[in-house]
Amino acid sequence: MKKILIVITLTLGSLSLTPLQASDAAAGANVFNLRGCVGCHGASGKMPIANYPVVGGKPADFVAAELNKFRTGERKNPIMAPMAASLTDVDVDNLAAYLAAQ
Ligand code: HEC
Repeated sequence: MKKILIVITLTLGSLSLTPLQASDAAAGANVFNLRGCVGCHGASGKMPIANYPVVGGKPADFVAAELNKFRTGERKNPIMAPMAASLTDVDVDNLAAYLAAQ
């Protein structure tokens, strides 16, 4: 019994070292294309249509921070607010990883 408890403790201990959620650039690419971000920010976020900003290649921290500002209303924009509103925290992390890698 004692042995089993030790094994369980060790297993739980090593699990907690694994990050709860790692950002996933491939999932971010899917969100970027499926949610229509690509329609304004262009392929890889780098070929913007009209005057929309380039977002591909921007640092992940910046992308995540700006998306969260649109989500909370701290940054107001009638186009981006509704785009960002439906994103989850995981979407934001994945989009940030994807765009930073462009
Ligand atoms: C209909 C066009 C349109 C779509 C679709 C769109 N955006 Fe935007 N995006 C904009 C505009 C316009 C701005 C600039 C807003 C401003 O001036 O505050 C912007 C700004 C941003 C910024 C901040 C860039 C900076 O340099 O400050 C990020 C990040 C961003 N968009 C990501 C996304 C993501 C991710 C999606 C998809 C969920 C998306 N956008 C969908 C038009 C769009």
